[in-house]
Amino acid sequence: TPFVIGIDGPSGSGKSSVSRAVASRLGAGYLDTGAMYRALTWWCRHTEVDLGDAAAITRAALELPLTIGDDPEAPTVLVDGTDVAEAIRTSEISSLVSTIATVPDVRVEMQRRQRALIEDIADRHGACVAEGRDVTTVIAPDAPVRILLTASEEARLRRRSLEVHGASDQAAIEATRDQVVRRDRDDSTVSQFTEAAEGVSVVDTSDLDFEGSVAAVMAIVDA
Ligand code: CDP
Repeated sequence: TPFVIGIDGPSGSGKSSVSRAVASRLGAGYLDTGAMYRALTWWCRHTEVDLGDAAAITRAALELPLTIGDDPEAPTVLVDGTDVAEAIRTSEISSLVSTIATVPDVRVEMQRRQRALIEDIADRHGACVAEGRDVTTVIAPDAPVRILLTASEEARLRRRSLEVHGASDQAAIEATRDQVVRRDRDDSTVSQFTEAAEGVSVVDTSDLDFEGSVAAVMAIVDA
């Protein structure tokens, strides 16, 4: 059976950077499931879907012309042939994505795509590192390695603030708070990522730097 490593966690836990580094070290393929919800959000904006209309968002999810790359060193995201890798990281998309990701039928369609992608990536690379909010619980609950990356709210706000604003002073942290705290609260109504499910290993990165976080995950993978 193909080797799958699932990594979940809230925003600012270090999930994306750590997952990519682990995939690189293992020579594994990589899937960012969050990028798929972000791509759908971008597509809904682009095609002027009413974000209050769950049925219309679901239709957009079913039709989404998405091509997502599996190289952890250069994760590409194409929607209808347009490179949206940067466009899906704007604060506008970040603030809208939970509205779309909490539509139940949208999740069913994205999870279906994600299971198929993980299987295909693992087949082609021998292994797949997949990260998100519900990889360890819903998409790949039988994966041989399942990890929840956590960190204190303070540490997560500091990291996200540095990423988005290039600073972690109080003003920058307050500007980041809605995004991180509100989004995680909304997301946690549909996915369990604030506590580890049974059999999921927890890595608390609050007091770890990037290399320390990668080493902690690699120790679980190698165990
Ligand atoms: O990087 P960060 O953790 O902040 O977010 P992300 O991984 O880019 O995910 C963006 C959004 O997609 C999340 O806020 C969720 O609304 C949604 N998502 C989800 O619902 N399920 C997943 N497996 C991954 C992401």
